[in-house]
Amino acid sequence: MSNSLYIVWKEGNNTGIPIIDEQHRGIISTINSLHYFIQNGDSEKILQPTLVTLKQYTLIHFKTEEAIIAKAGYPDLEEHCALHQGLAEKTDHVYQEAITNKDHKLVLSFLRDWWLNHIVRIDSKYVPFVIK
Ligand SMILES: [Fe+2]
Repeated sequence: MSNSLYIVWKEGNNTGIPIIDEQHRGIISTINSLHYFIQNGDSEKILQPTLVTLKQYTLIHFKTEEAIIAKAGYPDLEEHCALHQGLAEKTDHVYQEAITNKDHKLVLSFLRDWWLNHIVRIDSKYVPFVIK
């Protein structure tokens, strides 16, 4: 059993927008909890609600972020929303695949790669429009 974190939050991941950073950390925190349960060999009984929490919190976050960047007049709003929509659709597919193949690590690596890439490369683009 390991208590180490799957993803360690770095200062460089912060956008400087307090509510966005708070929610990003919340998402990473939930992914870390998912990893912890998987490492411990916990059953579907605990994995399932953690995944549901992550999905619901992701929706809350996307709603928050989309409203903030719309209000800021971000020119690539539509493209950004499409990426969010893409994650929602792809996540269901990856979850199903992981359950069928009994490979939960697949979900973890997918979530880690998507979120870190999104936060660092994609979300950073709207920051100058929100923080003026
Ligand atoms: Fe985003």
